[in-house]
Amino acid sequence: MAFILMGGWAGGEKAMAMDSAIWDAVETISREELAALQAGRLRDGLARMQRRVPFYQARLAEAGIAPGEFDSPEGQPSRGLSPDDLAGLPFTRKQDLRDHYPYGLFAVPLDEVVRLHASSGTTGQLTVVGYTAADVALWADLAARALTMAGVGRGDIVHNAYGYGLFTGGLGLHYGIERVGAAAVPVSAGNTRRQVALLRDFGATALCCTPSYALLLAEQLAADGAADGVALRVGLFGAEPWSERLRAEIESRLQLIALDIYGLSEVLGPAVAMECGAKAGLHLAEDHFLPEIIDPATNQPLPDGETGELVLTCMTKEALPLLRYRTGDLTSLRRDRCACGRTTARMAKPLGRTDDMLIVRGVNVFPSQIEAALLGVPGLEPQYELILERRGALDELTVRVEAAETPPDAAPDADAPDSAIPAPSELERRAAAELQSVLGLSCRVAALPRGAITRSEGKAVRVIDRRPV
Ligand code: DLL
Repeated sequence: MAFILMGGWAGGEKAMAMDSAIWDAVETISREELAALQAGRLRDGLARMQRRVPFYQARLAEAGIAPGEFDSPEGQPSRGLSPDDLAGLPFTRKQDLRDHYPYGLFAVPLDEVVRLHASSGTTGQLTVVGYTAADVALWADLAARALTMAGVGRGDIVHNAYGYGLFTGGLGLHYGIERVGAAAVPVSAGNTRRQVALLRDFGATALCCTPSYALLLAEQLAADGAADGVALRVGLFGAEPWSERLRAEIESRLQLIALDIYGLSEVLGPAVAMECGAKAGLHLAEDHFLPEIIDPATNQPLPDGETGELVLTCMTKEALPLLRYRTGDLTSLRRDRCACGRTTARMAKPLGRTDDMLIVRGVNVFPSQIEAALLGVPGLEPQYELILERRGALDELTVRVEAAETPPDAAPDADAPDSAIPAPSELERRAAAELQSVLGLSCRVAALPRGAITRSEGKAVRVIDRRPV
């Protein structure tokens, strides 16, 4: 694959192969140069955390690290720290942010903060994140890096349907879109019919939204008979796990290249990592966030290639730098040079969150794996939800999934109690057999007519847990 500096799209209309431009030369420096850069930034970042955040001062003291340990002598260059030096240092968890709500982990006085975002997560308890002017500038730069990786630049019209507001998706990408010189359409989430009209009328060439919302837009376009009228070429889809099979489905329905974008508000927001056209992992902004993969059960580091929990340390962020932040996301890392020319570590498409893993009759499974298996069954639609119930001592899983054609023998209400369940249809049997053979998962499948599953405008809620707590 060819790569060009700061170029645009090399291909013509709706090219399905893409050349990848590079936003920042740091993305292609040698691993040795990168290690040297990281070493200095890591030490400076740790020194700042220790000096400015009482929480880190205390945590580091508990780990036997005296104040000033990371400071470089006045006027001397930083001696640098190797990523291996992180291994003995304490982790930061989401609960730490909650315990210090709202501003307790900030490393700057509030009058240096120019933006606040917040995320409610699944528990509804808010975590607040803050940004200085330099943080906002860094974020715009990393978003520009991600958009450039997707081939978006001057002349592009970017329909940004991530929510604008406390959620980081909308505003996070917005300033990157402007930074690369493309036109931002800040449509935010909601009002799908109007979005479809805007996509067509404004001639959007790039789409930013969750993969589940991309599917909903595709459905609405098809329902309006308008799919041929859009000029979309590429999508930056993320904020939730999605399988390779869903990628193929979205690409074929929207006739674009679908790329994965990752991030989390605690660490920055979108653009912590981004896929290039090679689709061989998401390039981490490793010059600002130091990645580790650990075994979530033992907290021990895992080698490249092994799947575990991603842990990130912010080396350059001013307002809210986090030390060894437990993202909860399961992935693996590779550090070989990508076909696009970038040298930054790549993370595999995230499988899901450690806390989203379902344990059904002893089988550990992630919703994204169930999604991939379902999409391997002809006749099923990529709209599904997973209902967990407990009968006696056993967990039971019901997979409610839409069928492409209304099943002739579909249950009138497949979510009804056991007594009302008719014998499974042929399609339901095939789907259950696929889940059994691919994942070893025994569950009931209910095939539903199209439209039966509630659509999402942001992050899809796939799991409904009815088990008693
Ligand atoms: O979801 C930031 C974002 C916005 C990322 C737009 C990409 C695009 P939070 O709301 O704080 O921030 O949620 C972060 O979402 O820890 C993951 O569990 C999940 N997540 C984000 N991106 C991906 C992805 C935004 N590409 C949490 N694949 C993270 C899988 C993702 N999961």
